[in-house]
Amino acid sequence: MRFRTHWSAPMKIGIIGAGNIGGNLTRRLTALGHQVSVANSRGPQTLTALAQETGATPVTVAEAARGAEVVVVTVPLKNVPDLPSGLFDGAADGFAVIDTCNYYPQRRDGRIAGIEDEGLTESRWTEGRLGHPVVKAFNGTFAEDILSKPLPAGSPDRMALPVAADDEAAKKVVRALIDELGFDTVDAGGLDDSWRQQPGTPVYGLRAGVDAVVKALAEASPERTAEFRG
Ligand SMILES: NC(=O)c1ccc[n+]([C@@H]2O[C@H](COP(=O)([O-])OP(=O)(O)OC[C@H]3O[C@@H](n4cnc5c(N)ncnc54)[C@H](OP(=O)(O)O)[C@@H]3O)[C@@H](O)[C@H]2O)c1
Repeated sequence: MRFRTHWSAPMKIGIIGAGNIGGNLTRRLTALGHQVSVANSRGPQTLTALAQETGATPVTVAEAARGAEVVVVTVPLKNVPDLPSGLFDGAADGFAVIDTCNYYPQRRDGRIAGIEDEGLTESRWTEGRLGHPVVKAFNGTFAEDILSKPLPAGSPDRMALPVAADDEAAKKVVRALIDELGFDTVDAGGLDDSWRQQPGTPVYGLRAGVDAVVKALAEASPERTAEFRG
């Protein structure tokens, strides 16, 4: 889908993680005309197929944020601490970092004390490891929906995604980008409110519009469900 919901200048976007989410964001963002650099853990030589398909530039993790106005971190949560220091060196002034990551202690990530014992939201923990404020977005969005569900603004069935961040300027940039990708957004507050969109909450995986997303966020419980406790 190549429609644009509104005019916006092409941006330099770095994507760290080229799996289900990172791959599909690479596909859609390049289709919209953005200049995308994409990295995984194994190196750019393993990303030639994705690069040929999309026109994105395969890079090392250390290069991914160079010149980027938006950086997407979309790796398994347990791998966030493995990302190199200086990850954001050379990023554009005022760059925004999107965090799509979820904590899956039983299935993937193991127990993370900062989240379990200190009560940090997942994104607050991630932000601490990255050393830069993050905007939580896409974490409850099925990867395939990034390709199959975009609709022009104003469409009655357009899906809405919750977006949480403390940095209002970064949140605004990310909400505009998501609108361009074909989704409405709901302001889900600051990062300390972002438990409302974590795994196991009503909004997690919800395919619905703005009103239903607002309602689901309001109905969330701060208690982690058993499935998502380590
Ligand atoms: N799948 C979904 O529908 C979905 C939806 C919403 C949110 N999420 C969340 O978004 C994040 C990504 O999910 P995913 O399904 O896209 O994961 P995935 O398919 O497993 O892909 C993970 C990607 O991260 C890369 N990676 C891992 N460690 C890395 C490191 N140290 N440095 C650089 N790259 C690294 C992997 O590279 P290699 O392949 O080279 O190891 C791979 O490209 C997760 O936290 C997940 O919980 C997923």
